[in-house]
Amino acid sequence: MKLKNYIGGKWQEAGDAKYVPVTNPATGEELAQVRLSTKDDVDLAVEAAKEAQKKWALVPAPKRADYLYEIGRIMKEKKEHLAQVLTKEMGKVIEEGRGEVQEGIDMAFYMAGEGRRLFGETTPSELADKFAMSVRAPIGVVGLITPWNFPVAIATWKSFPAIVAGNTFLWKPATETPMMAYEMAKVFEEARLPAGVANIVFGSGSEVGTAMIEHPDVKVISFTGSTETGRSVAELGGRHLKKVSLEMGGKNAVIVMEDADLGLAVEGILWSAFGTAGQRCTACSRVIVHKDVKEELENRLLEAMKVLSIGDGMDESVKIGPVINKKALDKIHSYVQIGKEEGATLLVGGEILDKENLSKGNYYAPTLFTNVDRDSRIAQEEIFGPVVSLIEVSSLEEAIEVNNSVTFGLSSSIFSRDVNKIFKAQRDLDTGIVYVNAGTTGAEIHLPFGGTKGTGNGHRDSGVAALDVYTEWKSIYVDFSGKLQRAQIDNS
Ligand code: UN1
Repeated sequence: MKLKNYIGGKWQEAGDAKYVPVTNPATGEELAQVRLSTKDDVDLAVEAAKEAQKKWALVPAPKRADYLYEIGRIMKEKKEHLAQVLTKEMGKVIEEGRGEVQEGIDMAFYMAGEGRRLFGETTPSELADKFAMSVRAPIGVVGLITPWNFPVAIATWKSFPAIVAGNTFLWKPATETPMMAYEMAKVFEEARLPAGVANIVFGSGSEVGTAMIEHPDVKVISFTGSTETGRSVAELGGRHLKKVSLEMGGKNAVIVMEDADLGLAVEGILWSAFGTAGQRCTACSRVIVHKDVKEELENRLLEAMKVLSIGDGMDESVKIGPVINKKALDKIHSYVQIGKEEGATLLVGGEILDKENLSKGNYYAPTLFTNVDRDSRIAQEEIFGPVVSLIEVSSLEEAIEVNNSVTFGLSSSIFSRDVNKIFKAQRDLDTGIVYVNAGTTGAEIHLPFGGTKGTGNGHRDSGVAALDVYTEWKSIYVDFSGKLQRAQIDNS
């Protein structure tokens, strides 16, 4: 199957762009071929989106929302199919595939509700017989660049608020996971979303991404991916005065205090560190543990890790799937070598798994390091795989300091039974998301999603906060006095 671009409501046949294979990371099997588009394809898509936006902006927001209700309904109907495509293409276990599709469905219904809100403000004017209000206005054509690790959910966090607010979009999914975008295009078609409201252009960041950012008619760029790429997106976007929303890396920690329920902490660590094979920007990659419970936590983690089953995520009994590709596998393995050289103690894992049924996929053993120096590279840099570093501390203050010592600020968590410690931690942890007595993953779509410091640039996905990315505030003053009243001049 050849995946073609979806532009102006049509599957684009024209052009002689190259196609590259899409492979199943669990088996190495070729699933499809995806188009590597060029700047010309981007121009076509922006043209279609721009044309469609004029009409779309005039459709009443509750009517725009009706399309989202329909999209949500269709996604719900196709949930199992979408989850299976997701798992085959990206590798996460099927249970998580279903969970991710559900996140997209939830986002559809939630943002559809916004069609009847999109609240602005009314406020008294400083002058008599004058009315003042602000409304959210659509911006135009928005460009969405999404990663392979959440190929459907993240796209819904961006595209659904964009369209309910009256924008049209051009979406460049990751080249590793185009099939989910292709499936979503079919959903948009089935929901009869007007042609040109949703456009998908497949291809590389360097060609398609750059063309999107540089195009004068793409007013907003929303990007989720690595900090390195995000920085270049911001630089290029800045030069073109684009509004750029960035969601980037994490080095998220679970703090385990001496009074924690250790059984619960082990479950939270396992799920948030090794779920999705550690390939979430919210994944736990550090455990900051109080010295009084360090040994017991280590022992319990080692015990619990013995039963983690690794394999093809289509098998319902498997808990950990493959990582996305060979390059990721090598990167993870090289960090394990770095950890050893830095003097950390490798307790378990630290190897590529390529025997028997795992020989054709990209599998890495869940890995646990202890006695990790808080400033070492494995404790500071994003590995994006199933590798966790245990760091010992002696107090809550020290734990918070270690948590905040990284350049990222996405998610953090504390396990404790002491309400004072918990409230202190939620105030002082410098991350966009804080969990209490839960792991670092599992953000819900109706709250803002994003992080501080090197994780972002002040914008948020999800929640009502996402609307701030896709709308301009317009302030409107209506003078019904029948005479010229001059604000700040003759209002005394
Ligand atoms: C990501 O890894 O980029 O909070 C997104 C979570 C998921 C989303 C993760 N709901 O873990």
